[in-house]
Amino acid sequence: MIVLGIETSCDETAAAVVADDRRILSNVVLSQLDAHRPYGGVVPEVAARAHLAHLTPIIRRALDEAHVGFDELSAVAATGGPGLIGGVMVGVMTAKAIALVRGLPFLAVNHLEAHALTARLTDGIAFPYLQLLVSGGHCQLLVVEGVGRYRRIGTTIDDAVGEAFDKVAKLLGLGYPGGPLVERAASNGDPTRFDLPRPMIGRPGCDFSFSGLKTAVRRHVDALPSGPLRRRDVDDLAAAFQAAAGDVLADRTRNAISLFASDHGKGGALVVAGGVAANLSLRGRLTDVAAAAGMDFLAPPIALCTDNAAMVAWAGIERLRLGLVDDLDFAPRPRWPLDPAAAPAIGAGVKA
Ligand code: KG4
Ligand code: ZN
Repeated sequence: MIVLGIETSCDETAAAVVADDRRILSNVVLSQLDAHRPYGGVVPEVAARAHLAHLTPIIRRALDEAHVGFDELSAVAATGGPGLIGGVMVGVMTAKAIALVRGLPFLAVNHLEAHALTARLTDGIAFPYLQLLVSGGHCQLLVVEGVGRYRRIGTTIDDAVGEAFDKVAKLLGLGYPGGPLVERAASNGDPTRFDLPRPMIGRPGCDFSFSGLKTAVRRHVDALPSGPLRRRDVDDLAAAFQAAAGDVLADRTRNAISLFASDHGKGGALVVAGGVAANLSLRGRLTDVAAAAGMDFLAPPIALCTDNAAMVAWAGIERLRLGLVDDLDFAPRPRWPLDPAAAPAIGAGVKA
């Protein structure tokens, strides 16, 4: 089985070819960072136009690099949501056109499901496992029980953690996207000089909150002498923020591990995904949390943690194996919760 995957739900235009024996034959990702940087964030209209301009050549490249022709494909999978609707439409319409012309099955993949199943592509792990998804748009804890069977046990009630990194970077004048810049500044800073809150810590459950943390950073910035921020202040605030975010993630994940263990027994795997999983300090914290609970810690390679189409192709393979194909009248979905039984998150986290 060989599947073409297409991802256009945010600011990456991506296409990939993946085989059902877990070989990634190609994985092409075009980041639109430069297009959005002047605005300090992703602009939906700019993203949709860029997907439209770039997707066809990106698909061509993915097929060429995989040395695969349309005739050798078993199916076409595209992210059908959740995400910025203009971009999702571009990917879905393109996939449908290929499916129609080539007589292939079409698979509409939930972007969150694609993230959730990535560890099975990279490491072939068995169900069930615990998944922490941390990116600019999502911040959730999921029990992955099987294909199409996800139990969301925690989510953010306001900002996603990556969003908080981006907003703090903006406050500190570091630029966009903020995650890597905050991490770099934090590595030179003193995390103890500024006192920051740890929202949700000690409370039952696995939900997250990051907006109070960001507001606390703003208060400290406002209290500093006026004029450009000094390097030392930026580094110390970045370090304090990263330490607080790490404490929150660790605390919530510990609660999720207890819940997972009560249903499935001790052990198993904790998997992290999403752009924030690139942060080495946070990764270290979570590795310790997993180890203390006797769980394996698994973080797919960064290129497969952040948005890509190989994960979409793989989720397509998992669904195709079960005969879960979609009709060509599938409508792109701006919102598409993985676990419809879970209460909707309050506030933002639209992609989640
Ligand atoms: O998964 P991703 O590429 O895209 C989505 O949001 O879906 O994640 C991007 C997010 C951004 O918010 C970015 O600031 C954050 O991941 N990020 C990081 C780091 N690298 C990327 N956050 C903290 N530390 C990092 N090193
Ligand atoms: Zn994503």
